[in-house]
Amino acid sequence: MRIELLNTPPDAIETRIEEQIRPISMDDFAGQQRLTDNLKVFISAAKMRGDALDHVLLSGPPGLGKTTLAYIIASEMGSSIKSTSGPLLDKAGNLAGLLTGLQKGDVLFIDEIHRMPPAVEEYLYSAMEDFRIDIMLDSGPSARAVQLRIEPFTLVGATTRSGLLTSPLRARFGINSRFDYYAPDILEGIIIRASGILGIGIDGKAASEIAGRSRGTPRIANRLLRRARDFAQVDGVELINHSIAMKTLECLEIDEEGLDDMDKKIMETIVNKFSGGPVGIASLAVSVGEERDTIEEVYEPYLIQAGYLTRTTRGRVATRQAFLRFSTASGSNEYPLFDEQQDR
Ligand SMILES: Nc1ncnc2c1ncn2[C@@H]1O[C@H](COP(=O)(O)OP(=O)(O)OP(=O)(O)O)[C@@H](O)[C@H]1O
Ligand SMILES: [Mg+2]
Repeated sequence: MRIELLNTPPDAIETRIEEQIRPISMDDFAGQQRLTDNLKVFISAAKMRGDALDHVLLSGPPGLGKTTLAYIIASEMGSSIKSTSGPLLDKAGNLAGLLTGLQKGDVLFIDEIHRMPPAVEEYLYSAMEDFRIDIMLDSGPSARAVQLRIEPFTLVGATTRSGLLTSPLRARFGINSRFDYYAPDILEGIIIRASGILGIGIDGKAASEIAGRSRGTPRIANRLLRRARDFAQVDGVELINHSIAMKTLECLEIDEEGLDDMDKKIMETIVNKFSGGPVGIASLAVSVGEERDTIEEVYEPYLIQAGYLTRTTRGRVATRQAFLRFSTASGSNEYPLFDEQQDR
């Protein structure tokens, strides 16, 4: 059985819990210091001028707080937010409906903006740049386009794959915010805050243990917290203490660095089956039995940041650190020479 815990997208129940514990102001939003400090300046300045905030692109791996921050931006601006997502905008008409309904300064949040159809994306350009859109009246021979002015608004786009954004779209965002993985001490604070809201008792040592194994990701930290609550409940313990936390993490097979089954499988495959690489993403996906997109979006960014993997033009390459940890060959001289050069 594969434990689908760490990296799966949230289901309906989890989404409801996330709503409950989602920070609603900049002050509740922990970490991402530079990003939020800058945003606070841009928000204050826009408010002083009485302008809409410039368009904002939020990019980074899943569960780091992009949706959360989009809502906080709207609330700090004192504006309303309308929310949609790239795949839902299958026709330019859907987008026109949303755009014409916006009031001055409102936020239009488009999640998964890299998955917007090209025709819809092009339609968005003039809306973002000049706050005007073209609308087709009638169809057939009597069809004609009229230009319609829309209120100055702020587009907040979120993406897990900023590399897939076209350059014309990217260029239209005045503010480009990239999320980093969270440091363990910040995650510890996030866990303690969430436990307060959910009414779960947890001690500092347990929170710190969970934080250290949450892949730098608040969504995962909150998931592990809820699973630890389950273990505490079944054991009849009121408070999540260190031994409950350890039991949870062991039962879920999460190691000291927060790597799960698929992380390990990916690294073991590159190191042992492909002799450290370079291996193309398509072959890797087939070998480990996971979607290529999921590997690129979810697993790879963390393995790169953890120092196990590098991306080269010829494919993915395991680092020396990966060989030391994942090699099944005896002796530690298995590390290929060419990788050493690419590592630097
Ligand atoms: N900075 C933060 N401080 C406290 N909690 C946070 C923070 N960022 C995220 N969270 C928590 O993590 C959960 C997931 O965050 P969110 O839904 O905003 O991530 P996301 O980046 O939009 O993910 P996805 O790419 O899957 O849409 C939120 O419900 C919230 O509880
Ligand atoms: Mg989101």
